[in-house]
Amino acid sequence: KGNRLIDRFGREVTYVRMSVTDRCDFRCVYCMGEEMTFLPREQVLTLEEMALIGRAFSELGVNKIRLTGGEPLVRNNVMHLVRDLGALPGITNLAMTTNGSQLPKLAPELKAAGLKSVNISLDTLDPVQFTQLTRTGKLERVLEGIEAARAAGFPRIKLNAVIMKGRNDDQVVPLVRFARDQGVDISFIEEMPLGHIDEHHRGETLCTSEQVRELIGEQFELVASTENSGGPSRYYHFADHPTRVGFISPHSHNFCGDCNRVRVTSEGRLLLCLGNEHSTDLRAVVRRYPGDIERLKEELHSAMELKPERHFFSAEGEVEIVRFMNMTGG
Ligand code: GTP
Ligand code: 5AD
Ligand code: SF4
Repeated sequence: KGNRLIDRFGREVTYVRMSVTDRCDFRCVYCMGEEMTFLPREQVLTLEEMALIGRAFSELGVNKIRLTGGEPLVRNNVMHLVRDLGALPGITNLAMTTNGSQLPKLAPELKAAGLKSVNISLDTLDPVQFTQLTRTGKLERVLEGIEAARAAGFPRIKLNAVIMKGRNDDQVVPLVRFARDQGVDISFIEEMPLGHIDEHHRGETLCTSEQVRELIGEQFELVASTENSGGPSRYYHFADHPTRVGFISPHSHNFCGDCNRVRVTSEGRLLLCLGNEHSTDLRAVVRRYPGDIERLKEELHSAMELKPERHFFSAEGEVEIVRFMNMTGG
């Protein structure tokens, strides 16, 4: 105990994912409905409150913070937060997951502010399909964003693709080829049942990691990696190329046993597990005791008792979480 965060199952939390906004300039079909209502501003943590929470975590042994959304880069002044977190001595790995649309503009500044790595969502290389899947996104912009991130010199860039049957499963091989050409890593993610979306029925389009791997195997030789990411991804590499291919398979692979992470939603809810509702209200603490980091640390400590053993997502959709991904922070 003391200065570390350890749960009832002996797992130590060293990695925090923070959603800096529920807003986004895209409307990806698996993430949002066509009509979305976003949170009123006063319910969302201020950037100062987020920075304080980040500092409290860092003083409790957390060394990695990933900023997510929504789309983190549509939050005004988010660069201030990146700088504050980037300056924390305990945070050796500050990362961001983004849709890439603002990277043409912001990549160099992010690098300078201390961001170490970026994960960029890219589900297809077909411009028409891209706009169908994101509803409001333009492929060209995101490709420029990827280019800008490479030019800025991030040591690690990873692409994320959610593959759906009949929508973009024809893109698996082109995406792998693209990642290899660009010299970046790529992860394939099984679609998760977060938030009810009227226009989109997930059970019908779920494409398992196994199926994605078979598609890749027809063109390339994949070798399973022994590396344990400490996260949900299982990695493969190519016999002939440094690009790594990850698979995030909440439906077919239970990775909860060595889970090292928690999430903070844009409203300041500390979520102990992506696939459960167990949470505690950090916003209440930071607003009741402004600037009081010791209070916050006590709250984080006691929250460890609430971390559940595992999630219960399944291909049959046994559990549908009412939270949307954009509030959850992936
Ligand atoms: P690393 O920080 O390098 O481990 O990256 P990551 O792949 O975990 O992060 P990223 O933000 O790129 O997330 C990719 C996908 O993985 C998103 O859809 C996340 O929701 C999902 N994901 C991340 N962590 C977890 C987890 O603990 N459980 C599950 N089921 N999915 C997760
Ligand atoms: N299931 C799986 N992945 C999702 N993402 C968003 N919604 C879902 C979902 N329902 C992914 C995005 C992005 C990452 C942060 O989360 O594609 O890569
Ligand atoms: Fe925006 Fe990411 Fe959700 Fe797409 S998946 S709508 S880019 S938050």
